[in-house]
Amino acid sequence: MKKVTAFVGSARKKHTHDAVVQFLSHLQSMGDIEYEIVRLSDYRLQTCKGCKVCFEKGEEHCPLKDDRDVLIEKMMASDGVVFASPNYSFQVSAIMKTFLDRLGFVFHRPRFFGKTFTSIVAQGIYGGGKIVSYLDFVGNGLGFNTVKGSCITTLDPMTEKQQHQIDRVLAAQARRYYARLEKPGYPVPTLIQLMIFRMGRTKIRLELDDSFRDYTYYADKDWLESDYYYPTRLGVLKKGAGKLFDSMSARMTRAR
Ligand SMILES: Cc1cc2nc3c(=O)[nH]c(=O)nc-3n(C[C@H](O)[C@H](O)[C@H](O)COP(=O)(O)O)c2cc1C
Repeated sequence: MKKVTAFVGSARKKHTHDAVVQFLSHLQSMGDIEYEIVRLSDYRLQTCKGCKVCFEKGEEHCPLKDDRDVLIEKMMASDGVVFASPNYSFQVSAIMKTFLDRLGFVFHRPRFFGKTFTSIVAQGIYGGGKIVSYLDFVGNGLGFNTVKGSCITTLDPMTEKQQHQIDRVLAAQARRYYARLEKPGYPVPTLIQLMIFRMGRTKIRLELDDSFRDYTYYADKDWLESDYYYPTRLGVLKKGAGKLFDSMSARMTRAR
């Protein structure tokens, strides 16, 4: 049994919500899946004030008191998540963006390793493809294994042909997502993922000290020395590339 939680950034129960339900029912037809749909508008999420206390001292010192941790707990308790948003003015909805900003510290200290992510964007006419890419990038940044998301066009009234087309897209996405859920959770990182980790951690090691939460978090997890966030078998090429990324980052950090 796998648990999937979908976080929906539309205040109304229409196209984004319907697409999520369609996606999840395709998923359920493939195997033993339990799901929950979380409508972000049902939760209290305050606007980030930009103090950066979460980055520097730790998220528990955030001055905002809202449902951030309830939502993080739901992600932690899931094998997979879906972030779904309508296209509002060529971006995610404000509720979805508020949610992502509340997760800002997780981009510094990723934690959702081994879990699967995908995105769904519902749009009227245009611009959703870039939002899917953005959300998928966010999923990677949070530590998830990301399955390419989908953008669906929902301009009313929809013909039957358009509805079938949407269903085909969501069914194919559900198949990719299910396959990823079934695979081992800790894949060997791509070169780009390796570069982001090694350059970031070297900068943290050289620039920060134990008065910063990023530093202590990385030190506690042994990330200041490890090959990657989690144990993995890097081949000879990636081992070499990792060392190169460490030294490039060290040179760049010292030159500042
Ligand atoms: C404030 C607002 C801004 C929107 N901006 C865009 C846009 O930039 N591009 C687009 O294709 N559709 C845009 N739309 C249309 C919605 O993306 C579309 O109706 C979507 O299906 C809404 O999802 P929902 O039914 O879950 O609310 C906008 C709608 C609203 C309310």
